[in-house]
Amino acid sequence: MEKTLVILKPDAVRRGLIGEIISRIEKKGFKITHMKMEILKKEVVEEHYAHVKGRSFFDGMIKYMTSIPAVLIVVEGEDVVAMMRTMIGKTMVNEAAPGTIRGDFGFSKDENLIHASDSVENAEIEFARFFPEVKTK
Ligand code: PPS
Repeated sequence: MEKTLVILKPDAVRRGLIGEIISRIEKKGFKITHMKMEILKKEVVEEHYAHVKGRSFFDGMIKYMTSIPAVLIVVEGEDVVAMMRTMIGKTMVNEAAPGTIRGDFGFSKDENLIHASDSVENAEIEFARFFPEVKTK
């Protein structure tokens, strides 16, 4: 069964949205197979966001992502990679549709609550980074 990596970012934790977001994932019918809460290490977050290194928001994003704990979750289900991306909504919260997590709760362009893998290939890379015990094959 397909799996994806979801991160409830520090602003979701700070705002007390962990339960709300997990509830949406479960009500959708997806299964949570692994979950942990931790302060992310700077080196790991820099690697995770290496594709946007040099962008104006990069340094601030690294600081915010490592400021307080985040919640890391492995979500399993049919077509879950694409469907979680639909559920979280567009990256820019002002473009995220109502009914999506970012559309309903997001108000900051720099702190957008949640990450979900954007492809099956990247999900595998992200499991190796955050949940090496997760086997996808
Ligand atoms: S790209 O190259 O723009 O398509 O990059 P993308 O894959 O969308 O990843 C960008 C990640 O940086 C987070 N982020 C921001 N993006 C744009 N503008 C601002 N200000 C910003 N702040 C943070 C964005 O949410 C993407 O991370 P994830 O965790 O995947 O959402």
